[in-house]
Amino acid sequence: MHVLAFSGSPRRRGNSSLLLAEMLRGAREGGAEIEEIIAEEVNVKYCKGCLRCNLLKRCAIKSDDWLELSQKILIADVLVIASPIYFHHLTASMKKILDRFRSFLHVQITENGLIYIPWHEWKKDFVLILTLGSSSDADAQPVIDLFKYITTILGPQNKLRTIVGTRLAIANQVKMNEEELRTLYPKLKLPAILAEKDYQRNQILLKKCYELGKELAEKV
Ligand SMILES: Cc1cc2nc3c(=O)[nH]c(=O)nc-3n(C[C@H](O)[C@H](O)[C@H](O)COP(=O)(O)O)c2cc1C
Repeated sequence: MHVLAFSGSPRRRGNSSLLLAEMLRGAREGGAEIEEIIAEEVNVKYCKGCLRCNLLKRCAIKSDDWLELSQKILIADVLVIASPIYFHHLTASMKKILDRFRSFLHVQITENGLIYIPWHEWKKDFVLILTLGSSSDADAQPVIDLFKYITTILGPQNKLRTIVGTRLAIANQVKMNEEELRTLYPKLKLPAILAEKDYQRNQILLKKCYELGKELAEKV
């Protein structure tokens, strides 16, 4: 069982990274082989939009590490994408990688829309871990919709699980104890009374990530 995880935050102890770490801890304990890619650090260039992938069955860019990374993506059983929400979307470093997924597909334009034919058979578990500052998860919806779409066009056998953490603005916040949250919230102009509830909620979120990692690792 191979788990390939992408960490999309520029903050190493950001909330999405910490939730991802819990997921990977569960997966490791469940016996999975894990590789984590820091989106900002990987040598992957922007898609050039040449669309030559439609003929080549691979990306035409050869001057970066995409070829190697794309092989890792193809053999992974589980693909995890952890990202903060930046203006209702993924971070730019994560989106840059996602755009290169175009090379996994043949796209045919028809009068009635696009027809997608993946070059490979995809049967993966996708996990989307999103964190955002807002108290509601509405700003994460465009990314959730995008992944519902991408996982479907890559193959109807793909599965998508989504974990969203709201009201998380400050690095490490998801791991703060109740007292730390009570001190933090007035600085964020949030009522300190929310601290107790949010601490419990964050603990549940961390547990959910750990358990999902374990469940996916133990699946086969
Ligand atoms: C450039 C930028 C844009 C953001 N846009 C949104 C947004 O649209 N909606 C929202 O709720 N939070 C937004 N946030 C807050 C982050 O999503 C939130 O702090 C998140 O937990 C950061 O994740 P990290 O700790 O993993 O880095 C934004 C933060 C930044 C820096």
